[in-house]
Amino acid sequence: MRAVREALASLGFDMDRYHQESFTAEPAHAEDVPEDVVPDEQNQAEIAFAISGITAKCNETDSILAAAKALGLVIPSGCTMGICGTCKVRKTEGQVHMVHNGGITDEDVENGYILACCSKPLGRVSVEA
Ligand code: FES
Repeated sequence: MRAVREALASLGFDMDRYHQESFTAEPAHAEDVPEDVVPDEQNQAEIAFAISGITAKCNETDSILAAAKALGLVIPSGCTMGICGTCKVRKTEGQVHMVHNGGITDEDVENGYILACCSKPLGRVSVEA
């Protein structure tokens, strides 16, 4: 947004007509969170990306999306803050700590889906990616 604003200003755009909107959101929903379990960067986790056939070790504080990106795997994503739902993947094994902002329905969660951008592995997790 800053780049667009600066480009418009440098081109002489009437900045009185320029409007932008930005937002952030506090995590609103904690789903699939075992009680009293908080990801700890000292704890190792393991993520099996079943479709890709790749298993990787990471820290519990790494998101599923970040771990995938580090391996060069592509999980489509957008907001990376649990809003848009673009990064939804099915979890087939294990538990995650997922704190999202409404980007996934309760029904999806009941059917095993998680948002990769805001889900952190607790121990060994397998996802369809
Ligand atoms: S990228 Fe938007 S919810 Fe994950």
